[in-house]
Amino acid sequence: MSQTLFDITGKVALVTGATHGLGMAMAMGLGKSGATIVVNGNSSQEKIDNAVAAYQKEGITAFGYKFNVADETQVIASIKKIEEEVGAIDILVNNAGIIKRTPLVDMEVADFKQVIDIDLVSPFIVSKHVVKGMIARKAGKIINICSMMSELGRNTVGAYAAAKGGLVMLTKNMATEWARFNVQVNGIGPGYFATSQTAPIRVDGHPFNDFIVNRTPAKKWGDPNDLAGATIFLSSKASDFVNGHILYVDGGILATIGKPSNEE
Ligand SMILES: NC(=O)c1ccc[n+]([C@@H]2O[C@H](COP(=O)([O-])OP(=O)(O)OC[C@H]3O[C@@H](n4cnc5c(N)ncnc54)[C@H](OP(=O)(O)O)[C@@H]3O)[C@@H](O)[C@H]2O)c1
Repeated sequence: MSQTLFDITGKVALVTGATHGLGMAMAMGLGKSGATIVVNGNSSQEKIDNAVAAYQKEGITAFGYKFNVADETQVIASIKKIEEEVGAIDILVNNAGIIKRTPLVDMEVADFKQVIDIDLVSPFIVSKHVVKGMIARKAGKIINICSMMSELGRNTVGAYAAAKGGLVMLTKNMATEWARFNVQVNGIGPGYFATSQTAPIRVDGHPFNDFIVNRTPAKKWGDPNDLAGATIFLSSKASDFVNGHILYVDGGILATIGKPSNEE
């Protein structure tokens, strides 16, 4: 029973920004559950080829497509190619994203706009062109990767928080417009995760590491593989009546206001 509910065997999943990091962890989770993975990235073909090889090494059927998610012309051409060469896209994970850490008072408008473009406008562009096929087939799953910064402010990440906060409302509006076509749109909000980028600060005694570990009720950084369960759930029949929901995978950070540092 539960195997049928969560079964995604043979589904085609496009995961944007799946060349490494959290996108790769989510795509690996989908691939190990039987989905065919379409990997996207933008910086180099070599990176995409290496990622495809890493998926295939795990026994996953994977294909790579290089395109800039913020460029509508590239997105339209790539989706057409993917649907011709791999098949109809059943699952879309809008994961590609960037962050620029600058105090708002010092931030250039061009930098602010670039973050909004990639983190908020791109999920709209890619979804708009993928959902047309989903609507025609009356079936589809879209997952927008949000953040704790969708809910909270923090110094230096104003543009990112504005984009990720906007992505929550975009998710709810996509869900509102497309639920009637049996397309479920939801979000995942990752907390702090142990990736190669955070390795240098994930050491005992580092102030940011200590802040995260103390602030998180689970008392640890997330393992990227912890995102697989939420991704499979929101990609499978098990979530067929879940629409416009943001599933935070954060070790409980958003559940609490925290505690004074001297309190157990
Ligand atoms: N890491 C965290 O703790 C955390 C927490 C909350 C939310 N998130 C969100 O989770 C997502 C992934 O985060 P991450 O830390 O894994 O990021 P990351 O390591 O910086 O990886 C970003 C991915 O996005 C791709 N990408 C960037 N710009 C692109 C563009 N214009 N077109 C196509 N692909 C593009 C990159 O591919 P190439 O390099 O090959 O171009 C890469 O695969 C992001 O949306 C991020 O905001 C992360």
